[in-house]
Amino acid sequence: MTLWYLARAAGVVAMIMFTLSAALGMVMPGLRRPERRFWLQYVHRSAAVTGLVLLATHVVAVITDAYVNISPAVLVWPFGSGYRPFAVAVGVLAFYGLVLASLVGASRGRLAASASFTKYWRKLHIAASVGWLLSIGHALLAGTDRSTPWMLGITIGCLAAVATAAAYRLNATPKLTRAWRAQ
Ligand code: HEM
Repeated sequence: MTLWYLARAAGVVAMIMFTLSAALGMVMPGLRRPERRFWLQYVHRSAAVTGLVLLATHVVAVITDAYVNISPAVLVWPFGSGYRPFAVAVGVLAFYGLVLASLVGASRGRLAASASFTKYWRKLHIAASVGWLLSIGHALLAGTDRSTPWMLGITIGCLAAVATAAAYRLNATPKLTRAWRAQ
């Protein structure tokens, strides 16, 4: 059962890492001091990269483990899982969103000279928020531990962290825009 436990633990910590990254990503535009933004950007990216490594561990372990019947083909056709098909499909869609957002994020520095990429990257980066939300849905639907108090606490804590960051951003951004206009 080692692989099965590894898969589940990696899934939970990946979700926490993507939550940290999402919350910091939402807070960043509201910060005025460049050094704070720099450090938050650094932690935002590091959390996303750690999340991706753990996500890869989660996916490889659930597919390799003989305890459940999940073929690697689910990565191409998300609806073909032999185990909790709907919950796994939601997980695969979350995976697509998070991987797409990471690729777009990683290309940002290299394609910074391209005006059209810079214009669209923010829109493409929304895939991260969609992927994160789907990963919360997946955790609520898929996990063996989903209704235990500790797992519910973690999942609701993740939702609360991002909701708080979103509220901060909504509150801070109009103030910032006004301050810039007044300069
Ligand atoms: C290809 C994509 C994915 C597949 C095939 C997959 C598969 C699974 C399966 C089969 C379970 C059920 C484990 C159980 O019964 O306890 C599960 C649970 C879970 N997955 Fe995924 N998953 C995917 C993507 C994701 C993503 C993107 C995240 C979050 C970043 C994630 C986080 C979790 C969490 C937190 C659990 C609950 C663990 C538990 O309660 O023990 N998964 N996943």
